[in-house]
Amino acid sequence: MPERQDRRERHVPVLLREAMEYLSPRPGGVYVDATFGAGGYARAILDVPETRLFAIDRDPAAIAGGRALAEDHPGRLILLHGRFSDMERLLADHDVTAVDGVVMDLGVSSMQLDEADRGFSFMREGPLDMRMEGEGLSAAQVLNTFREEDIADILKTYGEERRARPLARAIVRRRKERPFTTTFDLVEVAESVLGRPRPGRKHPATRAFQALRIFVNRELEEVARGLLAAERLLKPGGRLVVVSFHSLEDRIVKRFFAARTGRGQAASRRLPHEPEPPAPSFVDVAPGGAAPSQEEVACNPRARSARLRAGERTDAPPIAEVPPLPAVSIGERGGGAGKPPHSRRARKGRGRR
Ligand SMILES: C[S@@+](CC[C@H](N)C(=O)[O-])C[C@H]1O[C@@H](n2cnc3c(N)ncnc32)[C@H](O)[C@@H]1O
Repeated sequence: MPERQDRRERHVPVLLREAMEYLSPRPGGVYVDATFGAGGYARAILDVPETRLFAIDRDPAAIAGGRALAEDHPGRLILLHGRFSDMERLLADHDVTAVDGVVMDLGVSSMQLDEADRGFSFMREGPLDMRMEGEGLSAAQVLNTFREEDIADILKTYGEERRARPLARAIVRRRKERPFTTTFDLVEVAESVLGRPRPGRKHPATRAFQALRIFVNRELEEVARGLLAAERLLKPGGRLVVVSFHSLEDRIVKRFFAARTGRGQAASRRLPHEPEPPAPSFVDVAPGGAAPSQEEVACNPRARSARLRAGERTDAPPIAEVPPLPAVSIGERGGGAGKPPHSRRARKGRGRR
């Protein structure tokens, strides 16, 4: 579809140069692009001679959009529809059990934001959906059926929305009159509680949209499980590069690398009967992380909040521990719509940010 093609061209990859620098793809290596999107990172990896690239995306539209690129690189670009938390199984189907590098560029693409009918953007009127795969509960269903306190919990936990409670109250009041169907329904309520948009400031609905998107797609669980899967798949010397776009994601990635590189495990603080900490499974190759340059932000405002972190796999065994995740507790108070969508186990790290 030419319009879609246009949108693919409009997606400007964030931190591309830095991501490739840290990934350091080598000729003939096998790589995973865990978030194919518009294929910006994938193209750069394929530019290195004889690389073989497994490109994953949970959005069927992104995979469909990559067909032409796959045809241009016969046998070198393998497009895989699915979630990156599942990358081991997806690659095992192709008899691949170890790779030289994994890159994850989290969040949504400009194409997804631009397509009004996906409901990701508060700037475009469309159905309030936000499901990357079109499965499970839509954002509208969450707002129309969840208890007020559960909606507040989602807005606070995943949007870090300070005024989560009054916003949830207004959402429930509004749905009694008319259920939520479009993105603008939510924008209207957000503006009525949080105020009108002001020039140079984030739109008041930004946090509510982020919260619902993360919840509907279980994005934080995906990130944690994806990091663990990458750790198991990487060969010694292989690189993991992760670009995140908000503090909730970045905190998970940062803690993952801190735990895997042995930071914060000073031997002197260990009691004599405590077991030895596991050997580091990564070396931090981008200490403190990398941020986009001012020039990049000026050309591509979407890059503003991006942060890159990267590690090189050691030959130590993978560490099974899951990084702590902020999580909501839908259903634990006996309400909500159906089964608890987010596990209690994940609540472990809550409040420690
Ligand atoms: C920021 S875009 C990636 C852009 C890409 N690096 C490029 O240069 O075009 C993020 C993509 O990751 C996909 N995605 C998000 N979470 C995912 C997951 N858990 N598994 C697989 N794909 C995911 C989204 O559908 C989206 O297409």
